Amino acid sequence: MNLESVLFSQGFGSRRQCRALIAEGRVSVGGATFDDPDADVATDALVFEIDGIAWPFRERAYILLNKPSGYECSRDPQHHLSVFSLLPAQFATRGVQCVGRLDQDTTGLLLLSDDGQFVHAYTSPKRKVPKVYLATTRHPLDDAQLAALREGVLLHGETRPIAAVAAHARSANELELTVLEGKYHQVKRMVAAAGNRVEALHRERVGGLALPPTLAPGQWQWLDEASLGLLRG
Ligand code: URA
Repeated sequence: MNLESVLFSQGFGSRRQCRALIAEGRVSVGGATFDDPDADVATDALVFEIDGIAWPFRERAYILLNKPSGYECSRDPQHHLSVFSLLPAQFATRGVQCVGRLDQDTTGLLLLSDDGQFVHAYTSPKRKVPKVYLATTRHPLDDAQLAALREGVLLHGETRPIAAVAAHARSANELELTVLEGKYHQVKRMVAAAGNRVEALHRERVGGLALPPTLAPGQWQWLDEASLGLLRG
């Protein structure tokens, strides 16, 4: 693939902007500066540098973000900052989108990708991917609430009760809840229907993929094949 197409495919601007970056001598591969946009480079395991910052070539981007509170899962946020402000600009340019949404005040594991099939598969209600949340509740949890969550609660606008796959108290006010669906405000609504209230919500896991403990809030990382395998379970 020629170098201009490499940069273009990775979201570094229009073809003209990519040609200009190369012509200005700002792009290097393997330590050597390339100023010819038509230079042919092998994309296998390619790492290129722009202004000294290394970027791996990724045909498709699969990204994990430790979402902090106060960010909306939208490129066009209404009341808060966008999660895209935490990511390099080229991700939005290459069409990366959130895989499902977390509320602005929810923290934790958020997946993003520019692979339309992947985004669709993991947001489709048909694919029942377990999602594990830790909810801090306003009132102490009790057995009746946990039983209601496990047996199913009827949410406004739904025709059938929704049951958690698992619900247990980690402490008096900490609920670990595993759900398969991804409905609007689902955890908050389920907890409210069970007679309590969510004060803080954190997503710890999607499928077999856990939020890495070393990834600080606001930080992101590429998902490699091993992590994608864990996600699929
Ligand atoms: N359930 C909620 O209520 N909010 C989220 O952000 C995710 C799940």
